[in-house]
Amino acid sequence: MFWLMFLLHVVLVRYTAPEGLAMGKPGCRTKCGTVDVPFPFGIEPGCFQEGFDLTCQHNATDGTYKLLSGNVEVREILLPTSQVRMDTGISWQCYDNITRNITYSSTELNFKSTRFTISHIYNKFVSIGCDTLTYNTMMDYNNYKYRTGCVSVCYSRESLQNGTCSGIGCCVTPIPPGLNFCSFSFDTNFNSSTLSVRDFKRCSFAALMEEDSFFFKTYYVTKVYDYSYYSNVRVPTLLDWSISNETCEVAQRMENYECVSSNSVCIDQTTGLGYSCNCSKGYHGNPYLEDGCQDINECADSSICSGSICLNEPGGYQCLCPPGTLGDPSHGVACYPRDHKMHIGITIAIGGGAGAALLILVLATWFLIRRLKLRRNKKLKQKFFKQNHGLLMQRLISPTEDASGRMKIYGLEELEKATNKFDQTRILGCGGHGTVYKGILSDLRVVAIKKSKIIKQSEINQYMNEVVILSQINHRNVVKLFGCCLEAEVPLLVNEFISNGTLSDHLHVQGRRSLQWKDRLRIALETARAISYLHSAASMSIFHRDIKCSNILLDDCLTAKLSDFGASKSIEIDQTVIITAVQGTYGYFDPEYYHTGRLTEKSDVYSFGVILAELLTRKKPYSICTSLEGGGLIAHFITAMRENHLFDILDSQIVEEGPREQLEEVAVLTEKCLRLRGVERPGMKEVEVRLEVISGSTKGLEHPTQSGSQSSWDHTRVANNRKSKGEISRQYSLEEEILLSAEFAR
Ligand SMILES: *[C@@H]1O[C@H](CO)[C@@H](O)[C@H](O)[C@H]1NC(C)=O
Ligand SMILES: *[C@@H]1O[C@H](CO)[C@@H](O)[C@H](O)[C@H]1NC(C)=O
Ligand SMILES: *[C@@H]1O[C@H](CO)[C@@H](O)[C@H](O)[C@H]1NC(C)=O
Ligand SMILES: *[C@@H]1O[C@H](CO)[C@@H](O)[C@H](O)[C@H]1NC(C)=O
Ligand SMILES: *[C@@H]1O[C@H](CO)[C@@H](O)[C@H](O)[C@H]1NC(C)=O
Ligand SMILES: *[C@@H]1O[C@H](CO)[C@@H](O)[C@H](O)[C@H]1NC(C)=O
Ligand SMILES: *[C@@H]1O[C@H](CO)[C@@H](O)[C@H](O)[C@H]1NC(C)=O
Repeated sequence: MFWLMFLLHVVLVRYTAPEGLAMGKPGCRTKCGTVDVPFPFGIEPGCFQEGFDLTCQHNATDGTYKLLSGNVEVREILLPTSQVRMDTGISWQCYDNITRNITYSSTELNFKSTRFTISHIYNKFVSIGCDTLTYNTMMDYNNYKYRTGCVSVCYSRESLQNGTCSGIGCCVTPIPPGLNFCSFSFDTNFNSSTLSVRDFKRCSFAALMEEDSFFFKTYYVTKVYDYSYYSNVRVPTLLDWSISNETCEVAQRMENYECVSSNSVCIDQTTGLGYSCNCSKGYHGNPYLEDGCQDINECADSSICSGSICLNEPGGYQCLCPPGTLGDPSHGVACYPRDHKMHIGITIAIGGGAGAALLILVLATWFLIRRLKLRRNKKLKQKFFKQNHGLLMQRLISPTEDASGRMKIYGLEELEKATNKFDQTRILGCGGHGTVYKGILSDLRVVAIKKSKIIKQSEINQYMNEVVILSQINHRNVVKLFGCCLEAEVPLLVNEFISNGTLSDHLHVQGRRSLQWKDRLRIALETARAISYLHSAASMSIFHRDIKCSNILLDDCLTAKLSDFGASKSIEIDQTVIITAVQGTYGYFDPEYYHTGRLTEKSDVYSFGVILAELLTRKKPYSICTSLEGGGLIAHFITAMRENHLFDILDSQIVEEGPREQLEEVAVLTEKCLRLRGVERPGMKEVEVRLEVISGSTKGLEHPTQSGSQSSWDHTRVANNRKSKGEISRQYSLEEEILLSAEFAR
């Protein structure tokens, strides 16, 4: 109530302790009435740091609480700024125009030998009155003494003005920093000879208070209350406090360093002795307690990213643009649509009244419906985006970096436009993992857009797998991934469009001009390069797991491009084996992997061996239509090798075209790749080198004398040919058994 007199303008910004965070030591009271009492302050013994003990007085008569430091009331404790707001008294003096008597009372603020100093930034020395000279005697923490004065004079009552404290009835002076003592007194003999002020009864005041809380009113001077009233007037004063006398530098080396919470910082007191603690940027809570500083969830404030997506992180947050838009909201670049459409201003010349009005009504309705629809669509898109790990992806693939040729996130709209709303006529093929559409992007780039048929989380994960793997690969024999779209129910992949179909089409579709041997050999080499690159050259080892002819695409120049990484697994480069559920395509997968579930790089080598066999024989690895009786191509191939009638099962076309020796060498390599035990198969790098050597000899049939590895290879080949037939036949029979068991399992 007494505050009212000086505080008509005050707006107290209450410091509220963050919800759910411990503010005091366990078992300690942290509230007195409505005032929070965070550690190092405390009420009960053992709950406070030395010098921060407070008492909480409860008045049972009117149910109020009073928090006191000594005999000064504490209104508020501010941890982040190391301040307290206290109620302090005022000095006053009243002049009686009838008796000409002067009555006065003087006050002092005494914070000597406490941890508090008076903030010189927020507080001012205020003096109010007519014909008033006030002295302020001060002392700082070094026991230096200061004295200032403030004069306020009124020529007449009419010269006073509300709100201005300019020496007319009111004056303000700043104070020096680091004070812990002040006392105010009046010069009772002060006479400025303005006689008119002696005509009325009036009082003068002096106080040290928060400048922001003070607003001068003319009636402070002109209206006189009962004198006892003034003795109870309190004004807010802001005090700084520090936790100890040492500087941060010294304290941090000491045992009783008080900033014990992680993510806290030490702040040297600039206007006094000692230091205080604060939570680091992006954290809030109590730095004086262990784990007292907690991450601020900035995203709880929904307006913080205004329109973009907010991602809370320890100590901060990020604003990300929604899918299909570009921008950098964290750095003040607002998100804008990727395909920035010009909003066509509709200008309608209203010629004839009623007709035009009707038109506008229709248009408005149409617009409204469209907007509602768009909004619903947008919500749905956002849901899918989340479901499709959009946020994760967005961090993986920077949306702003597509200019540098990296992956990009496409909006659904853009892809719908590119594929004519996924028109049937645009379907290129239906793979095991989904449908592939041909699309033409707005920049006239032709792309293949892959869309899964089934909506299962596992399937989506497979897609994400492909995206993550392809985003790390850059090889001329691997299909390039331009980007993806996460806004559809299932993620869409946007790949390089490869025009000439799959290797499988070229080999097995009837009536198609068959590939020449030299092309087949080159395709084999390019495929081997791609696989070898995946195994070793990429930043982490990648096993494709689904290598087959229909996953090798050919472009106009018949360059091979490996595709479909849906089943691929990436592993740390020094890890060589992983156990997984068997995945792959029947006829291509490694029998050892099939039996043990142990995935190694040699599984891909086996699949590649099957492709080599296909290239040599132009037969499908395992199909009901195989004219070969008793099992698949592989079994047949190996039998033919064993029984030395290889040339009977080779494609007659290449027997005519290819040098006999070259065919033989590829056949031997094929047999090696198809070894039953993974350890016996060559590594992919070895296969690649071997194929390079073989194709290098296309021109001259004679081997040029080459590296040691070549001769050792030849040596093993000879040894191989001489190997006992028993081993090969064991291999064959085991394999057959596996293939048969696989058949039963399905
Ligand atoms: C308690 O409150 C009543 C009513 O406001 C007051 O008269 C009394 O003096 C208060 N007692 C103390 C100890 O402050
Ligand atoms: C303490 O941290 C808060 C929040 O980061 C900041 O507002 C305040 O100014 C800091 N206090 C000091 C004394 O630096
Ligand atoms: C005025 O002051 C005189 C002397 O200082 C004193 O005797 C007298 O009682 C005072 N009058 C009042 C009304 O306070
Ligand atoms: C100052 O404000 C008070 C009310 O707040 C009003 O009664 C008074 O007339 C004002 N004085 C001047 C000089 O404007
Ligand atoms: C103040 O000064 C004026 C002129 O200097 C004098 O007439 C008057 O009596 C003085 N008043 C007091 C209270 O000393
Ligand atoms: C004293 O001041 C009051 C107003 O404060 C006024 O009404 C009264 O007339 C004054 N008396 C004398 C003797 O000047
Ligand atoms: C801090 O210094 C003041 C005076 O410089 C002294 O009175 C007080 O005891 C000291 N406090 C501590 C905790 O050292």
